[in-house]
Amino acid sequence: MLLGIDVSTTASKALLLDPDGRVRGVGSAPHRLSTPRPLWSEQDPEDWWQATCAAIQSVLRSTGTAGSAIQAIGLSGQMHGLVLLDSAGSVIRPAILWNDQRASAECHMIRERIGFSRLVGISGNDAFPGFSAPKLLWVRHHEPENYRRVAQVLLPKDYIRYRLTGHFATDRAGAGGTLLLDLHTRDWSADLLSALDIPAEWLPPTHEGPDITGTTHTDAARHAGLGVGIPVVAGAGDQAAQAVGVGSVHPGTAALTIGTSGVVFAPTDHPVSDAQGRIHAFPHAVPDRWHVMGVMLSAAGSLQWYRDTLAQGVDFDALLVEAASAPAGYCVAGCDGLTFLPYLSGERTPHADPHARGAFTGMTLAHGRGHLTRAVLEGVAFGLKDNLDLLTASGVPRPDSLRASGGAMQSAFWRQMLADILETPLIPVEANEAAALGAALLAGPAGGAWNDVSKAAAHIVQTGPPIEPRNGHNLPEALQRFRRLYPALRDA
Ligand code: XUL
Repeated sequence: MLLGIDVSTTASKALLLDPDGRVRGVGSAPHRLSTPRPLWSEQDPEDWWQATCAAIQSVLRSTGTAGSAIQAIGLSGQMHGLVLLDSAGSVIRPAILWNDQRASAECHMIRERIGFSRLVGISGNDAFPGFSAPKLLWVRHHEPENYRRVAQVLLPKDYIRYRLTGHFATDRAGAGGTLLLDLHTRDWSADLLSALDIPAEWLPPTHEGPDITGTTHTDAARHAGLGVGIPVVAGAGDQAAQAVGVGSVHPGTAALTIGTSGVVFAPTDHPVSDAQGRIHAFPHAVPDRWHVMGVMLSAAGSLQWYRDTLAQGVDFDALLVEAASAPAGYCVAGCDGLTFLPYLSGERTPHADPHARGAFTGMTLAHGRGHLTRAVLEGVAFGLKDNLDLLTASGVPRPDSLRASGGAMQSAFWRQMLADILETPLIPVEANEAAALGAALLAGPAGGAWNDVSKAAAHIVQTGPPIEPRNGHNLPEALQRFRRLYPALRDA
């Protein structure tokens, strides 16, 4: 049995995978989120540990599995989170999460100090406020008493690794999200660290996803109900782990995930990045693979917001039925001139702008609620189209299809609209807890279940029949309108 753990923003999840590649069960326990000030987003690492132990115990109990039957453990988790430990291994302050926007001034400082093209040249990425390095500099500027105590800087899942094994280590996909990794050597960049005055000894050693980083110790065995001495592999940041979990490891197997956020992900066999730093470029979870990805912050999150504010009490299915009949007659996109900008929490890709805002434009008396709903669905699809086009503009060949998962794929109407607007066939993937599944798949070699993670993923992942795009004569016009709106409205 292999155990995949995903320390996500909302919960810790533990997934049990048998050696035949069948998911035996999933346990989950929620996390609290704290937003003590506008733009801040924090969690208590102790909460992650308690929730991880509860999730592991829950899946062992529900499947009747003994903790000693686990052969290897893989870790995945929210990327970019800043966990600071002192020299005794105690947490110094709450973790600062990926969706925290406090560090924009530090991003400017990093670009100035390193030089924009050198920064992108080494790390593959621009500085985003959610990334770890700008947040570490924020602590240096605003909480010097905390900064003086720092002895170790970890990512969220690596804090769980520390609690399970007593070892400090990280995976290379996740390390990319700190902004301190050299994308080409897949290891910490001495140049970036010295330019930012960050001591290299604060960072844990980096490993490829399937590498063993330690084994469970007695304390972990007691709290989580596991055996002692189980190998724990590096695993991967949640986006790369999720890609493994939907079978997107080789170039050409690009993936689309639409949860609260929306991600377009393309594996590559060499480092690729956008000279303007508009997309993320990180190592993939396995050796000799990299990936680029665009991250849209409010995808299905836009629909959730819309329902909670403007259509309270109406269920999603009813809203989607209304949307499907507006406007009258078949029309791939356009919504009778109504357009929605989905930047409700600012944006990352393609507009790296925490101050970007959502909007409905072009409303007339002729528009009803169906149009509004449809405009939201279209706006999200246009945002994802921007992401896909940016990936291909950065040099990744246009994918023949996208392995698609997430809540939006549940709706026949929305998934067809996504295929139409992305002008790409979508291959639906059965992917409950894809990140935890990816983590378990990465643990396969350590557990003696398989040697080749990507072959195992291809074998295990279940796909449905492709959703083919339809041609829509009005798509270019509607897309142009959408693309003109962000620059036109930005200053207002
Ligand atoms: C990826 C990102 C999020 C987090 C949260 O760049 O910020 O996907 O990993 O899960």
